[in-house]
Amino acid sequence: KREVRKRPTLITDISSVEGNVCILDELKNIFEVAITSAYPNLIDPPIVITLSGNNPKFGDYQCNSAMAISQLLKANNIKTNPREVANNILNKTPTSPLIERIEVAGAGFLNIYLNKEFAEHVLNCILRFGVKPPPLKRERIIVDFSSPNIAKEMHVGHLRSTIIGDSICRVLEFLNQDVLRINHLGDWGTQFGMLIAHLQDKFPNFKTHSPPISDLQAFYKESKKRFDEDEEFKKRAYACVVNLQSGHADYITAWKLICEVSRQEFQKIYDRLDIKIIDRGESFYHSRMNTVVKELKDGGYLEDDEGRLIMWGDPVKHDGIPLTIVKSDGGYTYDTSDMATIKQRVEEERGDRFIYVTDAGQYTHFVIIEACARRAGILKSGQKVEHVGFGVVLGEDKKKFKTRSGDTIKLIDLLDEGLKRALDKLIEKGRDKVLTPEELKQAQEAVAYGCIKYADLSHNRVNDYVFSFDKMLDDKGNTAVYLLYALTRIRSIARTAQISIDQLLVEVQKSGFKLSHDSEWKLAKVLLRFPEVILKVSNDLYMHSLCEYLYEISSTFTEFYDKCYCVEKDKEGKIVKIIYERLMLCEVTARIMEKSLDILGIKTVSRM
Ligand code: ARG
Repeated sequence: KREVRKRPTLITDISSVEGNVCILDELKNIFEVAITSAYPNLIDPPIVITLSGNNPKFGDYQCNSAMAISQLLKANNIKTNPREVANNILNKTPTSPLIERIEVAGAGFLNIYLNKEFAEHVLNCILRFGVKPPPLKRERIIVDFSSPNIAKEMHVGHLRSTIIGDSICRVLEFLNQDVLRINHLGDWGTQFGMLIAHLQDKFPNFKTHSPPISDLQAFYKESKKRFDEDEEFKKRAYACVVNLQSGHADYITAWKLICEVSRQEFQKIYDRLDIKIIDRGESFYHSRMNTVVKELKDGGYLEDDEGRLIMWGDPVKHDGIPLTIVKSDGGYTYDTSDMATIKQRVEEERGDRFIYVTDAGQYTHFVIIEACARRAGILKSGQKVEHVGFGVVLGEDKKKFKTRSGDTIKLIDLLDEGLKRALDKLIEKGRDKVLTPEELKQAQEAVAYGCIKYADLSHNRVNDYVFSFDKMLDDKGNTAVYLLYALTRIRSIARTAQISIDQLLVEVQKSGFKLSHDSEWKLAKVLLRFPEVILKVSNDLYMHSLCEYLYEISSTFTEFYDKCYCVEKDKEGKIVKIIYERLMLCEVTARIMEKSLDILGIKTVSRM
């Protein structure tokens, strides 16, 4: 069936444009109008707009629709060729203040050249009003991330989930989305039975005196050992689970105590990395699991499979793996808990988009959860489930990340090592002699946590990645250190010129802001892409594109700064000339870099 699409409203007047305009979206609108009027009979014609790449010969953006349309027409027995189609589209393209000119080139490409005056206006807006988010329909978005398990190690996989999840929340929050950050703690497994049984033996007065189980790991190991070796203990552990799950007060007290010890450990990591998240573990869904199981049973979705109750995502094909909703002993599973969770997020939280950030290994789990939730009518058609998967962290030897002695690495130790290495690096550069102790400490933390976050976020998250302090602390290449230095250098240009933002605004307004040098124009065009980069990552949730963009800004800026001086000094070092347009480009560059780093969860410093 043909859907009648609303004709997009186009920008006709520069003065109506703000600093947050998304050029790519506007170009798509322009070409949608052009193509649908050139070929009114084509259903859903492809509107393909891309960046033209590095060669200025091909324009700034290009429309590649002509090739595909020509194929479609040929399939309908209409004789044509891509160049002819491109020319037809060109003839129907409405004029736009964004576009200087369009050329048909090569096999039928439409090369689009941006209008300088428009760019000057947009940069002016950013200077006057700051970096504003492009408009996006507001949605309620639940982001499930970090989510370590109580009493077990919070490992590097959880660190990845924490860093990626936080950055996803940040970009969505910047875009004014209604974001709920949820820490889906594993706080309700059968492991609590053995933990509680062990606690009862070791610290019988735990109800009145908080036992010193600071090393919950060790405590966990001891209880696991007893569980595996001692039949009596095992029986008691099972009885403890039953008591806990039926809400027996003493057991709840013991359980809360254990959870609290873990939580305090997790919180140390969150505080260091500046992560805000709401704890809502699996236990929160305990009674909701009963409800969802009953509903699934009543709805006829569950099948008996040798005593356990299972549910298929696809009732027809019956291939793949089913969910285990009730085990043969009557207990619930990770699947049951995620069915209750998604139902709660749909019905109580009223979410539109449900994002889960876990290791790639859980991909299938979430595919089946989604399929079952759709099948049971819990999820409605407009609602989206997205699994944000990521690869494993490897050591420099490309093997599983471990300490030299082969133990798993404690996250706190890892962060401490980051701090130490960051300080070494700063001292190596002699920064300790220039900065105040306070500035040095800020720089150290910004570098340490920034480099760990950036190393993670700058790689395509689906791939495994090699954790290497040497690489992430390198000040050349696409690293946080390089970007933080670049930013402070840009900031220092305005400092040498001794010009305030207000003065800059007055001066630029006086002369009218004009981009003259080629390198200025090139930098301007990169800066103008901020809205489209932000919209892209908020949609596909691949944060590395934002990192690549940051790196591109920084290298384009370097190119600009090599060719275009901003402040001219005489032999005595006295300022003889300031080029305000260029200072303004510095300011806009710094602001966009700061905003991008902020979205990546990286703190910036004014000096380092
Ligand atoms: N606790 C799980 C783990 O450590 C992650 C939980 C992810 N969220 C969820 N709703 N299943 O792997």
